[in-house]
This record gives sequence, C-alpha cells and structure tokens, in this order.
Amino acid sequence: MAAARAGEEELGSHNDCLVQLSNPNIATMKEDILYHLNLSTGTHDFPAMFGDVKFVCVGGSPTRMKSFIKYIGAELGLDRPGMDYPNICAGTDRYAMYKVGPVLSISHGMGVPSISIMLHELIKLLHHARCSDVTVFRIGTSGGIGLEPGSVVITRQALDACFKPQFEQIVLGKPVVRSTDLDEQLVLELMQCSVELSEFPTVVGNTMCTLDFYEGQARLDGALCSYTEKDKQAYLQAAYAAGVRNIEMESLAFAAMCRACGLRAAVVCVAYLDRLQGDQISSPHDLLAEYQQRPQRLVSHFIKKRLGKARVPS
Ligand code: URA
Repeated sequence: MAAARAGEEELGSHNDCLVQLSNPNIATMKEDILYHLNLSTGTHDFPAMFGDVKFVCVGGSPTRMKSFIKYIGAELGLDRPGMDYPNICAGTDRYAMYKVGPVLSISHGMGVPSISIMLHELIKLLHHARCSDVTVFRIGTSGGIGLEPGSVVITRQALDACFKPQFEQIVLGKPVVRSTDLDEQLVLELMQCSVELSEFPTVVGNTMCTLDFYEGQARLDGALCSYTEKDKQAYLQAAYAAGVRNIEMESLAFAAMCRACGLRAAVVCVAYLDRLQGDQISSPHDLLAEYQQRPQRLVSHFIKKRLGKARVPS
C-alpha cells in the first residue's frame, strides 16, 4: 500500500511566531482537556501559566526532568533558597512537568507511543498559551555505535529501523509518512556549544529510533532472540554506514511531530555504551548518572547563551 506523505504540506518551515497546530478541529472546540497532563483550557489560564515559555526540554524520566529544572534554574540565577519546583501535572502520574522562567521540562516515558501522546498535548498547550519562538529539545540516553561510552550525539536525522528518515504511522488503517529532518542550524549551534564547554566528546550523527530495546536494537540478551552475534554485528555495521551513531526509542515521533507543527527541535542524547562491544548496560550507577547530566549541560549552555547569560570564550 502506498504511504501518504504528510508533513511537507503541514508546516514546512519553522515559524518565528506562534506555535501552530496541524488540526483544524481544535479551533472549533470550546474546551480542550489535555487529559494525560491533567490540564484543561476550561480550568487553567494557559497564557498566564505558560505564555512566556521559549525553551522546552523533554526526557524519559520524571526524576531526570525535575533535576534538569533545578539545574537550569540555578544556572539562570532564577532559583531562591528553599525553592521547590512543584509538578504542574500533579494529579496524574503519567507525565511530570516543571517550569522555571522561560524553560519548561517534561517527562515523556519510554518509546514512541508514550512520547507521542505527551507531544500532542504539549504542542496544544504551547498553542493555547500563545507561546512564540519556541525551541524544543529531547535530552536522553541511548546506545552508541562505535562511540566511547559517555559521548554525546546531536542528531542530524532520526532514522527508522530500516535507516529511512521518516516516521510512518498507521492512520485510519493506512500508512502516513512524515519527515524526521531536524533543524540544521540548531545542530550547528549545539555543536558550537559543545566546543565552548569542552567537557565531553560530542558528535553529530544520525539517530536510529526503534520500537523495542532488545530485538529491535539487535541485542542478544532479551527474552527472545532470533539471530546470531554475526547477524547483529552486520546490522549495526550497516547502521553505522547509514550515518547512525546512536540508537534510542523516541526521536522519530519527536522529530516528525515538532517538524509538522513548525517547532524548532533538536535531539541530544548521551551514549551509555558502545553496542559494537556489548549489550548490557554495566557501568556503575554513579558513572551513568554523570553521563545523564551531559545532554542537560549542553542544552543548558545553549539556553544561557540565547538568554545572554553564558560566559562564552572570545
Ligand atoms: N536507550 C536505548 O534505547 N538503548 C540503549 O542501548 C540505551 C538507552
């Protein structure tokens, strides 16, 4: 069956102004209930709560997104002694959301279905709040290919498990295909931030997004495995040849949905291990915790620079 190409006809270019939706139905609704975020336009004043948001950071775990908001709050000089960051989505345990100044931090759980539900509601939130000129980052963890553990990958293109830069979704029983290209200028600016920080190895590369952590990522250590070590190595080498430098489970939906709604977006993930060397994540917990902070430090430097608060070497 031929797949319909969506995306190009949606919002081709990044809008410098309001966050737009690619759905005419929303404008006709009296109230919009963002069920999984426990927020509603009927009961919450979105422009007052979120109208100043310029940067959104999304990541898998609620704890990590809370520690990010504390970190960026301190970096921007916006925290006060004893300040707590309440979970804006309290009342649901699906996702957690925190805000400091112009930065929103939200968890998305694991995998494409989980991030895509969150993104539908987040993008509508930004639209209802009449936010303008918003940049969205996914900061996460991944498995590297041919990279030293702890390396950070800035994604050029999100690829599917057949190495295609597209997100295919079944809509009304038919495949709909959306482009997963990311903002090239943002990639360059983030790479420049990494050079300025000079704290950890960083590369620009393609990111393969899979629907599973085990067989989907060619691991030999899941409950099921239908291939050999040789097959696994051949697949990962083919991925490397397609420019893939890391593997995770959310970038396809993230890139496609942000692009379709004209949002400037980037994916910055740390590699926990080199998948050519093994499958199990066996590094000590405190080392992994330090690795997890690397995408946060990079994105935080970018945000500080944008807000004129970073010390940049001349
Ligand atoms: N996340 C993934 O999806 N894969 C890994 O190997 C590590 C983190």
